[in-house]
Amino acid sequence: MNNKILKILLDNKNQYISNSEISKLLNISTITVNKTINKLKQQGYNIISSSNNKYCLLDEIDILDKHVISSLISKKYNIEILDTIDSTNTYLKSNKTNYNHIVISNEQTGGRGRLNRKFFSLKNSGIYMSILVNPNCFIDQALKITALTSVAVYSAIKEQYGININIKWVNDLIINNLKVGGILCEGEIELNKSTLTNMIIGIGINVKNIDFPNEIKDIATSIENNTNKKVTRNDLIASIINYFDLFYTGDISYMDIYKKQSNTLNKEITVYQDNKSYDAKAIDIDNNGNLIVISNSKQIILNSGEITIR
Ligand code: BTN
Repeated sequence: MNNKILKILLDNKNQYISNSEISKLLNISTITVNKTINKLKQQGYNIISSSNNKYCLLDEIDILDKHVISSLISKKYNIEILDTIDSTNTYLKSNKTNYNHIVISNEQTGGRGRLNRKFFSLKNSGIYMSILVNPNCFIDQALKITALTSVAVYSAIKEQYGININIKWVNDLIINNLKVGGILCEGEIELNKSTLTNMIIGIGINVKNIDFPNEIKDIATSIENNTNKKVTRNDLIASIINYFDLFYTGDISYMDIYKKQSNTLNKEITVYQDNKSYDAKAIDIDNNGNLIVISNSKQIILNSGEITIR
């Protein structure tokens, strides 16, 4: 019942609707309406009641809601919202249902990034989500999925906040040289065919005004640390999913945008790979998302490892 009443309130956002109208629309008693409204208030929805038994949902506070997200996306996904979890990628790996299963959590206690780094995932402060897909592509094309997801996040942040983020090869999302998020793709390989079947795409974004802990405060930022504009996480997530679909289904090409937003291309960089490091210049990104660098007059194609910009 919560969801049906919530939908009516959302359809009439910032306007009053009476208890009796809701009870007629849903064919339930006015007492049930009243009780459900109280529950929604307890969950944190900003609902005001007038003396003549009317209710008004003011600007939604930022509660993750799968019904709201589903109503904003064009394709059907099985969306699961958790309050807290170690890592949405780890959870999805052992609890996956069908392809197009998306898990989003309010908090992660063991959020992970590439190269086994921690991903700081403070409660109610960011987007921590994982999508299960079946790319059914060869392993050497796996990086493309990281690239297309980065472009989906870039496009959604641009659409919702008007902020321009950059992408540091291969998966870091950057605002003003600070990290605002990242992508962690983890795949299962079908060995006899060398193809990637199950792939979990983890997306982490720092959204709210965050006081970062000392160890990352000089390298991390959040969207709201850079703008006064407020967007609900539901809206941002829905926009990410819609752009992800657009690029994943191949309707729109993303590689040009990935290159345009790259903060790595044409830069002098240091490459860290297999416990070694060397200086190089990043000269191109190929259609599989590999970084092409020149080091000591030799061209090298990178499909893994870590780089820093010098
Ligand atoms: C990185 O910084 O290298 C990538 C960060 C990816 C973080 C996301 S948050 C959702 C998903 N669950 C995780 O544990 N990691 C990814």
